[in-house]
Amino acid sequence: MRDSPGLSMGAFRIMSTDGSQLLQQIEAVVGEPGILTGKGLAGRSAGIWSGGELKAMALVRPTTTAQVSAVMKLCHAAGQSVVPAGGMTGLAGGHKSTSADIVLSTERMNRIESVDAHSRCMTVEAGAILQTVQETAAGAGLMFALDLGARASCTIGGNIATNAGGVRVLRYGMMREQVLGLEAVLADGTVVSSMFNVLKNNTGYDPRQMFLGSEGTLGIVTRAVLRLHEAPLAVETAILAAPSWEKVMSLLRYFDAALPGALGAYEVMWRDHYELNTGPCSSVDAPLAVDGPYYVLMDVFISDADHGRENLQALLMNALEQGDITDGALASSETERGKFWQIRENFEPEQAKFGVIYGYDISLPLDAMEAYVEAVRARLQRRFADAELMAYGHIGDGNLHFSIYPGEQRDRAAVDEMVYFPLQALQGSVSAEHGIGLVKKAYLGYTRGDAEIELMRKTKRMMDPANILNPGKIFDL
Ligand code: LAC
Ligand code: ZN
Repeated sequence: MRDSPGLSMGAFRIMSTDGSQLLQQIEAVVGEPGILTGKGLAGRSAGIWSGGELKAMALVRPTTTAQVSAVMKLCHAAGQSVVPAGGMTGLAGGHKSTSADIVLSTERMNRIESVDAHSRCMTVEAGAILQTVQETAAGAGLMFALDLGARASCTIGGNIATNAGGVRVLRYGMMREQVLGLEAVLADGTVVSSMFNVLKNNTGYDPRQMFLGSEGTLGIVTRAVLRLHEAPLAVETAILAAPSWEKVMSLLRYFDAALPGALGAYEVMWRDHYELNTGPCSSVDAPLAVDGPYYVLMDVFISDADHGRENLQALLMNALEQGDITDGALASSETERGKFWQIRENFEPEQAKFGVIYGYDISLPLDAMEAYVEAVRARLQRRFADAELMAYGHIGDGNLHFSIYPGEQRDRAAVDEMVYFPLQALQGSVSAEHGIGLVKKAYLGYTRGDAEIELMRKTKRMMDPANILNPGKIFDL
């Protein structure tokens, strides 16, 4: 049956064909600067990874939770789809919108409301930028522990919606561990406030957890109480060449045992990634020769100003003498620390060399990782002779990233299957930290069982029966 104007058979939608009445009602809530349509959207980006211009019926920019609630009530009554937007730096397409969607951005809700140094927490609006939160915590002599490459653009609301990971998970856990309380607006405009600010609160089901990792499908996060930690006195960064995967695994335990609670990051680069990111396409020179199979990048928090660096040097010397590492360098300045990290985090060299790269974010047990990587590489190159695979990741978290140049054929589905299929037998995850969004929907069943997915679907139907909040993300109903 064809939809007649103003009435669609989908999810009890009643609205004018172009939604203009709805947009007028929304404008009455958020004011003229709060809504951009048509030419007003020109030049608005769809996100750093997606490229191109933002697609939306309108971009709505509320300034308060009450406004978000009022907008959602209107959209709910109209059966209008709403795609929540933070910094739009997601890598799984969870923020993707179409010209039929209203994109609801938290960009004008970016205030830091308060810092409580004694309770070690900070109250923020969802649009606060991660780096601003980190700097505010540092200004109060504390630390906000979540850290990731997109820190300058990503928002706390997006970090919550995707349960972001990053480079401090080994020591402090993912975003889930950094959120003491939050406030969210449901699809029908109901405000759920769980703005608790103490670590312990064991009062039945925990509404916060509904939103952490929900990728904007269950509610729009509007505010949060973030957990802060004591800041380390200093951070030392070392880069090490490990002669085998066995050593990569045993060094993690060696350092973590010798430096209890101080290992802040344990990142590993396979030679291909290290070689590319220190080669002609890179602005960073290789601190260690390009001749080994694995390079470990390690952050160590120093709490003993007098002996911290010396202790670490002694541990490194010992590892060298034992043959557990074949070479190593300890950064001697902040600039050098930054350079070591650039080798791990830079994506410009792969863009410059290959143009097209497929990115992956998976997890699996360390015991199985070496063989898995080599099996994927071999299968990939057997099928596409000109393909290349670069491996690296947060190996202390069991989180492996691939950057794959697919070769001229560019068969995304075939490459995806080569990466994801073997994870089933290994009890791995098709998404360690980036989420499912749109790009991994087809593979959700490789990691989650039928009963788990059905429970997710039931939850979605219960919280958003009209399916207006970020519809089609994670799974189809
Ligand atoms: C990283 C992103 C890709 O770890 O998660 O660099
Ligand atoms: Zn990562």
